[in-house]
Parts: sequence; C-alpha cells; structure tokens
Amino acid sequence: MERFARLFSQNRHWANRTLQGNPEFFKELSNQQSPDFLWIGCSDSRVPANQIVELAPGEVFVHRNIANVVDPDDLNCGAVVQYAVDHLRVEHVLVVGHYGCGGIKASLDHTPLGLADQWLARVDKVKQRHHACLRVLPAGKTREDRLCELNVIEQVRNLCSMAVIQNAWTRGQTVMVHGCIYGLQDGLIRDLRVSCRGPAEVEPNCAAAIAHLGAPSQTGLSH
Ligand code: CO
Repeated sequence: MERFARLFSQNRHWANRTLQGNPEFFKELSNQQSPDFLWIGCSDSRVPANQIVELAPGEVFVHRNIANVVDPDDLNCGAVVQYAVDHLRVEHVLVVGHYGCGGIKASLDHTPLGLADQWLARVDKVKQRHHACLRVLPAGKTREDRLCELNVIEQVRNLCSMAVIQNAWTRGQTVMVHGCIYGLQDGLIRDLRVSCRGPAEVEPNCAAAIAHLGAPSQTGLSH
C-alpha cells in the first residue's frame, strides 16, 4: 500500500512543479489536445514514450502493446490510429520498437507466456517471413536485435496497409509513417529509415530499410 500511496504524493509534486513552470498549463491542456505525433510502442516499462523524446503532456498520442505490433484486425490499435489520424490530424505516426524486447525474445525462444503467446503469433509471422535472413545470424542477441528491427519495419508495412492511412493519403492529408528503434542501454532512438509519405513509397522503402539492416552475407557468414 505504501508504494501505491506514494504515487499520489509524487503526482502532487509533479503537478505543482508543472504549474510553477506555467500556471495555465493544465487549464490550457484541458480544453484541447493537438499532438503532432502518434507513438505506437512496446508496453515495456523501460520505454516510456513522452520521456524518451522529451514531449510534454498533449504532444504525443500513444498506443502501446507487447512488441509494438500493428495488426489491422486489432480493434484497439485501429481505433487509436483512426482517432489520431482522422480527428487529431497527427502528421507523424511512429512505430517504435526496442532492443532487448521480451516479446521478441519469447518468439525466438518459444518461451510460453500464456495469453501473450497468442498475441505474439503476429511476431512469429515476421520471424517466418524473414527466416532465411535470421537463421544465418548467431542465436542470442544478434538474432534478437535483428528481429526487433525487422518487426518494426513489418509493423510499418502493416500500418501503411490500413484503410485509415490509405484513405488519408488518398485525400491528400499529410501523414508520415516512421519506424524507429530504441536502445535500452544508451537511451537513444534510431531511425530505421523506412519513413513513408504515400502508398508508392511503402514497398520500396520497406525493402530498402531491410537491405540497410545488413544483408546476411555481411553479418552472419562466420556462424
Ligand atoms: Co518490448
């Protein structure tokens, strides 16, 4: 209970500090939100969206799930993307994966996690699609890191295939979809250079981003 109670004192402390910086902060925010970004990231407690990129409340709309998956059939994710694009008119949608992702590792190791196994079938699909490239990499961190990266790129592809994004592009709305990956060890996010501004860019940019990760011939032959 003590830890739970502490949340309230920490919250008061934060609210006071924020008001010292701008006495109108909460009043202004309570009227509307107009974030520029939608962040689709992993639920991992070590990857908090706002904090990593120093964005204040009101600046980033967030959806998180295990292994930052975008499944066009997932009502939760779909509703978030639609609200963000159609109503909030965010201009940038980021899929942000992270190295050391437990969901990715579980998919590679076949670790049973219960309900999450069903969810991670979506990561298994990515793993199967890139089986040839993954199997030549050394098992362990190298292979996990590569699947973390590939998973982001494939989720960008899924996102771009969603009707919400396709329709926004058709009507000429500016929406850029990006893929990034965060390093737990250094606190830095890296651009996976897969950004898409329209339907014609999706396949070439995903292919280029995957090629940029390093062909198996460059990284895996010694194993
Ligand atoms: Co994760």
